[in-house]
Amino acid sequence: MSLLDAAREVRDAAYVPYSHFKVGAAVRGKSGAIYRGCNVENVAYPEGTCAEAGAIAAMVAGGETELTEVAVIADSPAPVPPCGGCRQKLAEFGCSDTPVLLATTSGETLATTIGELLPGRFDAGHMERAGS
Ligand code: THU
Repeated sequence: MSLLDAAREVRDAAYVPYSHFKVGAAVRGKSGAIYRGCNVENVAYPEGTCAEAGAIAAMVAGGETELTEVAVIADSPAPVPPCGGCRQKLAEFGCSDTPVLLATTSGETLATTIGELLPGRFDAGHMERAGS
């Protein structure tokens, strides 16, 4: 199964009683295994979680901390861009050239990378002068 098909499949499980906007995400770990996530909303709106965060949590729970590929899909007019927080979360476990495929349910896709999604990101190097 392709990574995009995995994201499309898990999207059906999204819990979205408030936005009615289902998102599916899948990441491939360094081992080649696929991990999936969907958005899970909450009546206390800020407590909801994005599909990408779910997929990353599944990967880490599965014992992996490096991802090599990402796919995200939603029923949006244009390929759905990950939110700012999810860009930082993806960057934590991928590289600047890690491929990210954004897609719509109607078949439009946009191929990008983690580095393009989050240029100039904050990383561990910025903390080098902090006392320890
Ligand atoms: N959402 C995601 O799951 N991923 C994204 O990349 C963008 C937004 C979710 C959060 C919320 O449940 C709904 O989409 C509307 O913002």
